[in-house]
Amino acid sequence: MNERAITALIAAQRVSEGAGVIVHRSLGTPAMRHLDPFLMLDHFSSDNPDEYISGFPDHPHRGFITLTYMLNGHMEHQDSMGNRGDLRAGGVQWMKAASGVIHSEMPRQTEGLMRGFQLWINLPAAEKMGPPAYQEFGADEVPEIRAGNAAVRLLAGTFEGRHGPIDDPHTDLHYLDVTLAGGACFRHPLPEDAHAFLYVFEGDVAVGAREAGRHHLVVFGPGDSLSVFAGTAGARFILVAGRPLNEPIVQYGPFVMNTRDEIEQAIADYRDGRLVGPAPRR
Ligand code: FE2
Repeated sequence: MNERAITALIAAQRVSEGAGVIVHRSLGTPAMRHLDPFLMLDHFSSDNPDEYISGFPDHPHRGFITLTYMLNGHMEHQDSMGNRGDLRAGGVQWMKAASGVIHSEMPRQTEGLMRGFQLWINLPAAEKMGPPAYQEFGADEVPEIRAGNAAVRLLAGTFEGRHGPIDDPHTDLHYLDVTLAGGACFRHPLPEDAHAFLYVFEGDVAVGAREAGRHHLVVFGPGDSLSVFAGTAGARFILVAGRPLNEPIVQYGPFVMNTRDEIEQAIADYRDGRLVGPAPRR
């Protein structure tokens, strides 16, 4: 076994997104622009409505996938494909923006805790201008697996012979929500060529001689296995891995393409109302 070591430890930054939602951003900042194929990781976590009530009104995306995992709360999604979806606690939403989607993500609560993650996953060049797609899975479609002192909610990939509902063949995505009892160790094999990180959102963890607390991103180096120890009070983190695409990345806000020309085209298409196809009948 070739154990993965920490190569970077990144404290999330508080950022205002959408119409004024406070998020903790770890990937997609000057500290780490990308971790191919991952472009951005935002964690929203607040019980103060002022920090989420304004939501994410209509905005565009092109060239990648957004994966939203709700831990607490309720958001409503509407998009230019004609989808209307409810994101509720424990559920996950996969949106392949590809050639273009305009969507909104608005809170359906006026008080209480809203907590979750949005991960941006890049698409290979051949898929960037393909048709957009949308999938949504409720909490009861996400396997919950107990293994020793760990409880795992499996969004993507395999664990203990089970499969998560999200499938991303371009990156062989793995996405686990892991809860560990105090002092427990979590060992997990991952494909050698996958880029991997974890994000701590409760308690703290140790990997090798390094410790990481809440709102910290741990980036792993190469290897075929990793081990994470929970602090004495336990820990909860997401563990995400995917094969890099190894293609040029040119990003302008919500557009992620391979060349500057393609970005100019995306900006022009959005400006001229050509980013998305004709609106379907609702
Ligand atoms: Fe969005």
